[in-house]
Amino acid sequence: MSVQCLLPATGNFKPLRNLYLHYNLHQQAAAGDVLIYANYIASLDGRISLRDDKTEEFAVPETIGNKRDWRLYQELAAQADVMITSARYFRQLDKGCAQDLLPVGQAPEYADLARWRAEQGLKAQPDVVIVSASLDIPLAAVQSLQQRRVWVLTIKEADRSRCKKLEGIGVTLVQAGDKQVSGQGIKAFLIAQAYRSAYMIAGPAVHRTLLGAGVLNRLFLTTHFSLLGQNTFHTILQGDMQPVKTALCSLYLDVNREQMFAQYEIKGDQA
Ligand SMILES: NC(=O)c1ccc[n+]([C@@H]2O[C@H](COP(=O)([O-])OP(=O)(O)OC[C@H]3O[C@@H](n4cnc5c(N)ncnc54)[C@H](OP(=O)(O)O)[C@@H]3O)[C@@H](O)[C@H]2O)c1
Repeated sequence: MSVQCLLPATGNFKPLRNLYLHYNLHQQAAAGDVLIYANYIASLDGRISLRDDKTEEFAVPETIGNKRDWRLYQELAAQADVMITSARYFRQLDKGCAQDLLPVGQAPEYADLARWRAEQGLKAQPDVVIVSASLDIPLAAVQSLQQRRVWVLTIKEADRSRCKKLEGIGVTLVQAGDKQVSGQGIKAFLIAQAYRSAYMIAGPAVHRTLLGAGVLNRLFLTTHFSLLGQNTFHTILQGDMQPVKTALCSLYLDVNREQMFAQYEIKGDQA
């Protein structure tokens, strides 16, 4: 099953498989720099998550989540040295409400991505950065990651006893801001650790932290052509910040005409 290339405007059809893997995002940063990219799937009316009345948790709406988009999500993970996520992800994981354990997926259908990482000289799995001020991070959920290097980026006044508990399970804590973790702090940390590609999979708050600091480079956005409504939802961005301009670099229409896959370059603060 293929996708149609709308930008560049060739109109050609391409296989969905390896559509994003060909970007080689792990090799795009200049020397001494890191490429930071984010990825979302949103409904036509901009929802990335809705509140589930039963669990009282936010989750990606079932109507829009789908395997074709998930394949591209996995391909982006395959190119990452490190994945950036939120404490809330682990709180949801602990309650059984998170979408998945962090990729790269272990299922046979993603075995090609595991092989590809090995061929590229990348670790079997990307390292993990958790952004949190509260340090309310369930230890069991972090331990389920097994054998992956886990960092927690936190604030100056972080709770000492929570720091100790996390350190006790092998997590390294790094102070990267005073009252909130800063985008500049995240980027400086990534460069100091010689990471070359960082895949941000958290929600609107971490997104704003990176965008507001001008450190996000690319945004991948799948728009699923469903209209969801509802009053309690997340979009890809929330909170005060200066406007940021982007430029569309690629656009593919899925063959079923139910979704499109866009990639934007972040141009920066345009205030
Ligand atoms: N459809 C999609 O593609 C997609 C993608 C991603 C997420 N989502 C959904 O969006 C919803 C929200 O995701 P999320 O919880 O990962 O979102 P988020 O709003 O980015 O993260 C929230 C948590 O991250 C920490 N955080 C964020 N920015 C911080 C900063 N600058 N300094 C310190 N801590 C910071 C805070 O943790 P503490 O409270 O511990 O301090 C905060 O509670 C979820 O339901 C998720 O399923 C959907």
